Amino acid sequence: MARLKIVGGSSGRLLATLIARELDLKVSEVEIRRFPDGEKYIRIKEDLDDQVVAIIQSIHHSPDELLFEYLLLCDTARDLGANKVIAVLPYFAYARQNSRFNPGEAVSLRTVARLIEDVGTAELYSVDMHQHRVGRVSDVFGIPVHNLTAAPLLADYVKANVKLEKPIVVGPDEESKQWASTAAKVIGADHDVLEKKRFGADKVEIKTRSLAVRGRDVLIIDDIISTGGTIVEATKILKELGARRMVVACTHPILADDALVRIYESGAELVLGTNTVPSPVSYVSAAPLIADALRRI
Ligand code: R5P
Repeated sequence: MARLKIVGGSSGRLLATLIARELDLKVSEVEIRRFPDGEKYIRIKEDLDDQVVAIIQSIHHSPDELLFEYLLLCDTARDLGANKVIAVLPYFAYARQNSRFNPGEAVSLRTVARLIEDVGTAELYSVDMHQHRVGRVSDVFGIPVHNLTAAPLLADYVKANVKLEKPIVVGPDEESKQWASTAAKVIGADHDVLEKKRFGADKVEIKTRSLAVRGRDVLIIDDIISTGGTIVEATKILKELGARRMVVACTHPILADDALVRIYESGAELVLGTNTVPSPVSYVSAAPLIADALRRI
């Protein structure tokens, strides 16, 4: 552990600090600024010779810029003698476009994976990456990829802070079954999923299925809340099916535009997420999860 250095990019500083604290380490000093033409200037003020370096950078908000910053940080760390660079990209943008859905489209995930590898990344850690879309992550990346899940941390938070009566955990679609079943084990409940159909980036339709939610408190769990469309549809259906209280948890609270308002208006009592994406509801820190994984390298 003494040889591990923690470096935070612009969007990874808070998590880097919290991870370093868990590991009893100090975050390496990094200077990131812009030249007058907008170009990024990067300087790592730390002796990285023969060190293992974990670069923390959540690729949200300005994904192109933050990804490029990661590439500069990684290449620089290697150049400064680091013997291994680990990418810790808790929110991993570009996982959506893993295929050419329409003629002429970029298969962005493949390009991004190649760039991350080409600058010398040895391993990648992410949290609840869109692996279900990616299929087998090993088909895309030639380096080891560790996809951690925050579902137990989210469920722990709910268990400690909300007294759910006759709880059931519901995922809004088939893909969310993995998080629903994990969270259900933690809070000692059963789980089920709804059926979702997506029409473009911001329009979804959820089919009514007969779920045993009448008179029960429901924890709805998903990996991402982006436009909030999925969760708003889910709460509508669960209310129609007789759910009592609804608590919503997600790993990455992107919460674009007025997503949070719409979710609260739809009847959710509490919305919570992790700090992989800083937001007004990032009550749960992903730092212990990532620190635990880094302890094992
Ligand atoms: C989809 O596959 C994901 O698991 C989420 O359900 C989705 O990204 C949420 O997006 P939105 O909040 O825009 O409905």
